[in-house]
Amino acid sequence: MSNQIEESQQQSPDSTENHQCNDDGDFVDPWTVTSSSQSGPDYDKLIARFGSARVTDDLLKRFESALPAGTKLHHFLRRGIFFSHRDLEPILNKIEKGEKFFLYTGRGPSSASLHVGHLIPFIFTKWLQDTFDVPLVIQLTDDEKFLWRGLKIEEVKKHALENIKDIIACGFDVKKTFIFTDTDYISKSRAFYENILKIQRLVTFNQVKGIFGFGDSDCIGKIAFPAIQAAPSFSTSFPQIFGTGSKCQLCLIPCAIDQDPYFRMTRDVAPKLKYPKPSLLHSTFLPALGGAMSKMSASDANNSIFLTDTANQIKNKINKYAFSGGGGSVEEHREKGGNCDVDVSYQYLRYFLDDDDHLEQIRCDYSSGKMLTGEIKKEIITVLQELVAKHQQARKEITTEIVEQFMTPRELNFVNTSTTTTTTK
Ligand code: TRP
Repeated sequence: MSNQIEESQQQSPDSTENHQCNDDGDFVDPWTVTSSSQSGPDYDKLIARFGSARVTDDLLKRFESALPAGTKLHHFLRRGIFFSHRDLEPILNKIEKGEKFFLYTGRGPSSASLHVGHLIPFIFTKWLQDTFDVPLVIQLTDDEKFLWRGLKIEEVKKHALENIKDIIACGFDVKKTFIFTDTDYISKSRAFYENILKIQRLVTFNQVKGIFGFGDSDCIGKIAFPAIQAAPSFSTSFPQIFGTGSKCQLCLIPCAIDQDPYFRMTRDVAPKLKYPKPSLLHSTFLPALGGAMSKMSASDANNSIFLTDTANQIKNKINKYAFSGGGGSVEEHREKGGNCDVDVSYQYLRYFLDDDDHLEQIRCDYSSGKMLTGEIKKEIITVLQELVAKHQQARKEITTEIVEQFMTPRELNFVNTSTTTTTTK
């Protein structure tokens, strides 16, 4: 990746230049996220650089009033964790008219075990699926991790299957969800491959260099790959779900903001294919235990909470490694209070404690110094132990047959209502 510094403004087309890095030490692209600040990347600057839009209070109000009666906005939206978007309005229009769209998200199977940060898009996508009763496709880019990580084909395929069990354990509805690995689905679906080809013909090497920072010595697999992540944004890649000869349904992609470059490219090619541009909802990154400046990596067991961790491991890791925004001594902490912006326990509570009143109480008590670091750690330990235990229980129930059901290309159970544009080319 190039480390060039670049500023950008909102512009059309979505993708022209390499927007990953800026002058404040944050670096965000699909393969690397680093921040030079203990409170994490400057997300306002990211929005400006990527040319996306903030999820404003007005938009949230509209979102809230579009919800079925009795449903509350997810706390990821209430707390600005899904903070940025592209074209959310057309999706809200659909919802308001009672019309359908579909959801698309994914995971790169770089390792067999997920950490709690990996759950964020899936927890949120499940909420969207349950709330709006819409079909969902989930892509596992085993090909991407083969190309980028130097892993063997058998390894990435094995990781993908393990990851799929964790994804299913998040509670997706088998009647409404299709999960696929690229190596498998490409071999089964002509429609998917044809969309990939159409996209590949529309994007030049020069453009992917600009968007992704590829260089002359990157292998050609990398250069061609973005089309494979783009193609599921178009419902015509899934004739078994949406019908053949079919019209292209609107797509909403919940993802962490580092995936945006793929979809900037996708949104640029969409009109040329007479397909609707996919809409996006972007999330922030969960910090690593060592704080937002350290990297949350699957290879450093002590810097994240894994879904395979025992209750004891969770307790020990949080106590030992969770970066504290508390005072240097009890006296200092009582006097000055803790800094919630950098405190990893507090940040994790924002993501994983649903109860707003409880969270606010913790925030007041911790920042005033009334609550000590050991005490806030105890709060997050309880929340994570419960989350991980529940996940492990659900995962135990996932048999090979269940995995096969999710991975079989098939009709899904939803009403195929209105549409936008028809396929050409
Ligand atoms: N490239 C993503 C990763 O490495 C995986 C992915 C594929 C994805 N399709 C997606 C993520 C759509 C979000 C939305 O994790």
